[in-house]
Amino acid sequence: MFLKEISFRGYRNLEDNKIFPHENVNVIYGENAQGKTNLLESVWLYTGGHSFRGSKDSELINFGKDFACSECVLNCLRGDIDIKILINKKKRLAKINDVDKGFAARIVGEFKAVVFSPVHLSLVKDGPESRRKLIDTVLCQLKPTYAKILSRYNHTLKQRNALLKDLQYNKSNSIDTLLIWNNKLVEYGAIINKERINLLEILNFKAKEIYKGISSEKEKFNMEYKSSIGFNKDMDINFINKMFTDCLNKNQNIDLKYGTTSVGPHRDDIDILLDDKLAKNFGSQGQQRSCVLAIKMAEAGVMEEISGEKPVILLDDVMSELDASRQNYMMNKMGDWQVFITCCELSVVDRLKVGKVFKVCGGNVREE
Ligand SMILES: Nc1ncnc2c1ncn2[C@@H]1O[C@H](COP(=O)(O)OP(=O)(O)O)[C@@H](O)[C@H]1O
Ligand SMILES: [Mg+2]
Repeated sequence: MFLKEISFRGYRNLEDNKIFPHENVNVIYGENAQGKTNLLESVWLYTGGHSFRGSKDSELINFGKDFACSECVLNCLRGDIDIKILINKKKRLAKINDVDKGFAARIVGEFKAVVFSPVHLSLVKDGPESRRKLIDTVLCQLKPTYAKILSRYNHTLKQRNALLKDLQYNKSNSIDTLLIWNNKLVEYGAIINKERINLLEILNFKAKEIYKGISSEKEKFNMEYKSSIGFNKDMDINFINKMFTDCLNKNQNIDLKYGTTSVGPHRDDIDILLDDKLAKNFGSQGQQRSCVLAIKMAEAGVMEEISGEKPVILLDDVMSELDASRQNYMMNKMGDWQVFITCCELSVVDRLKVGKVFKVCGGNVREE
């Protein structure tokens, strides 16, 4: 898929504008703090997800304005579709072909994209949440049912935790209700686990190969799913169900003591390893970057393989860090995907086969 047109109004520091990106490589260049990342961020919002910078919706609106909106024409397998995103101080809403979809999260899966920006180094460096989010974001874009199950799981988890807290003070509250939440948690949680483990296997397979292409060393890349319950990829869903139920029962007293659910997919992690050692603890800055880049490129490959559609790639400040041979490797990998690349110096991308160049200056985006 590729974006044919993008327009935005009242978005961050960007001047209201409409641009016509190239089907392949689009380079967005300009000095610091001009609005390059803002432009990528506005494109990312067509996925229906939150800002990849972790910003609140209200922060996306130009200072002093009440709302921001952006619109695109997306060419995909079913033809051209028009996506509109409207952000006001309270909500982020979406329309597809002028049909109201309500909250933007409802359109997840329509526009498939992969983004890599310096904030994604958190994938290696930070706690497990960012890694769970990575895998959940891919699954949500690929499978609308997964997004539903995940949201039901999270809802059930909240209810269960609230009940656990309640039971600490109010013993009369029936412990039987806990069993009801347990059953639901297991039903949704087992599916989440199975889907995550399956996807990680495909992702890992691709990322290993890409890591070889973009790293200078000979270290071996690997990812492993760390289930808080002890699941692995060889277990079927019924077995996972049973193990999860047993584990909840076994941990019931601990859960009651702390008023929170101690096991389940919300406590799982993914180990990112180089030569069997955690990249987080032992990887250099460069190795950590290569890990994230490999995972992100693999993510795009998996999306294409499973959905049959080429995702759009957003690379924020990535190319300048790579030498010529790695840039070439990346460009070959991205083949005929639509790519948006930001950089400060145009010379950085001299070697690339560029489709269109956009200069961003003080929020003004101009095609060159
Ligand atoms: N809501 C907003 N309204 C107006 N300007 C904003 C808003 N949010 C961020 N900015 C401005 O956007 C600029 C940063 O843009 P950014 O896209 O991060 O720059 P870069 O070109 O370095 O990627 C800063 O000058 C910042 O003040
Ligand atoms: Mg930037």
